[in-house]
Amino acid sequence: MNPKRHDLIVIGAGPGGYVAALRGAQLGLDVACIEKEPALGGTCLRIGCIPSKALLEASERFAEAQHGLAAFGVQVSGVSLDLARMLKRKDDTVRALTSGIAGLFKKNRVARYTGTARFTESGRVLVEQAGERHELEAEHVVIATGSKVAGLRGVEFDGDRVGTSTEALAYPEVPGHLVVIGAGFIGLELGSVWRRLGARVTVLEYLPRILPGVDGEIASEAARLFARQGLEIRTETRVSGARPHGEGALVEVEGGEPVPCDRVLVAIGRVPNTDGLGLEAIGLELDPRGRIPVGPGYVTRVPGVYAIGDVIEGPMLAHKASEEAVACVERIVTGYGHVNYAAIPGVCYTNPEIASVGKTEEELREARVLYKKGSFPFLANGRAKSTGQVDGRVKILAHAETDRVLGVHILGAHAGELIAEAAAAIEFGASAEDLARTCHAHPTLAEALKEAALASDGRALHI
Ligand code: NAI
Repeated sequence: MNPKRHDLIVIGAGPGGYVAALRGAQLGLDVACIEKEPALGGTCLRIGCIPSKALLEASERFAEAQHGLAAFGVQVSGVSLDLARMLKRKDDTVRALTSGIAGLFKKNRVARYTGTARFTESGRVLVEQAGERHELEAEHVVIATGSKVAGLRGVEFDGDRVGTSTEALAYPEVPGHLVVIGAGFIGLELGSVWRRLGARVTVLEYLPRILPGVDGEIASEAARLFARQGLEIRTETRVSGARPHGEGALVEVEGGEPVPCDRVLVAIGRVPNTDGLGLEAIGLELDPRGRIPVGPGYVTRVPGVYAIGDVIEGPMLAHKASEEAVACVERIVTGYGHVNYAAIPGVCYTNPEIASVGKTEEELREARVLYKKGSFPFLANGRAKSTGQVDGRVKILAHAETDRVLGVHILGAHAGELIAEAAAAIEFGASAEDLARTCHAHPTLAEALKEAALASDGRALHI
C-alpha cells in the first residue's frame, strides 16, 4: 500500500502539536496530526492545566463559602462539599475544550489520525492502533510529543494510593492525609486544591526553598502564605521511597521517620516523552537529559524533522510550546518566525497566584547585571483592599543604567492576568519609566505595576 502523502505531519495534539497543525493549515498546507489518545489537547487540556484550573476554582469557591464570606457581611450556613459534582464539572470543562479542538481541526481540514506514531524512515511515519495501520509521508514532520511524569527510585506507583497529578485530579474522596512530593507548580497547585477541600496536606521538598526557578523573595513570601493556609511544607526533606501500605501509603524520607498517609502525589518534575517514536530509525539521538536537540527553526539533525515544546530544551509550559509551534511552521512556509524567550511568562495558580516574566533577582546577580528594584505591596492598593485580596506584591527589576525592564514578579490575586502587561512591556523593550508613565485605570490591581515601576525610581506615590 502506498503511503498517504501530506505536506506536514504533526505528531502529538497538545498545545504544541495542535497549534502547529492549525497554523500549517492556515498557511495552506495539507496537514495530518497524529494523536494516540482519543481526545485532542494533550496533557494540558486532558490531565493538566485545564482540569487543575477547574478544580482550583471550585475548591477556592468552597473555601470562600466556608470561611471567606462573613467578613463581607454575607452569612452562609450548611456549606457542604459535593465532590462528585465538582469532579463532573471539571470533566465537562475538559470535554468541551478537547472537542473544541476537534471542531477546529475539521474547520481547518486537518487530517486527524488516532494511534501511535513511529518513524520508519525520514519523512515516513507509521500510525498504529488496535490492528489498524496507516502509513503517512511528508516533506516536513514536527515532533510535539510533550512530556511525562518523572519517576523516582524507590517509589512504587500503584495508580491509586501512590500516583501522579492524573490521579490527584480525580481522587474519589478527600484524603485524610495527602503527602505531596515536590513543592513545584504541580505539588503546590494540587496540594492547595485538596487542602481547601479539607485534607491535611504535607509537602515534602528536597531543596531549602519552594518553587525553584521562581524569584526567591517572592517564593519565600508565598511559602509564608501557604503555611497560613495550613499547607505543611517541609523543605530540605528528600524522599527516598513511597509505597502503598495497608489502607494507605508510607513515604520514606532520608534521615527521618517514614510518613504514613492516605495518598501520595508524586510531583517531582516531568521528562521529555519520546517513547516508541522510532527515532533510531532516522538516526536522531537525544541529549543526556532525554531531549531532542534542535537548531534554529526547531530543525533536528535530520533534515525535514522538527521538534517543539516539552521534548526540547526550555520551560515545560503550554504557551511556550504553542509559540514554538507557530514559529516552527511559519519558518517552514515563509522562512521567518521566532520566539522571544526573554518574554515567556510563568504562572502558578495557587492563592494568591504567582506570576513572573523575565529574569529573577538571583539570575541577575549571578550574571552580574546591575539592576534596580521596585516593589509595591497589594496592601496599599485600593482595589485589593476593597476586594480583601491584600496579600502579595509586585516586584519590578530594571537595568540600573538603561532602565529597561528585565523581570517582573507578582504574588497576588489575578497575578496570572496582570503578568500579561509585563510580558508586553518586555516584548516591546519598555523601560520602567514607560510603565510608570502609562495611565492605569483606577481602582485596579494593575495600578500596583505602575507603582512598582515608580518605586524602582524612588517615586511610589502610595507607600
Ligand atoms: P517542578 O520541577 O516544578 O517541581 C518539582 C519539585 O520537586 C522541585 O522543587 C524539586 O526540588 C522537588 N523534588 C525532586 N526530587 C525530590 C525528592 N526526591 N524529594 C523531595 N522533593 C523532590 O515539577 P512539577 O511540579 O512536577 O511540574 C512539572 C512541570 O510541569 C514543570 O515544568 C512545571 O513548570 C509544569 N507545570 C506548569 C504549571 C503551570 O504553568 N501552572 C502547572 C503544573 C505544571
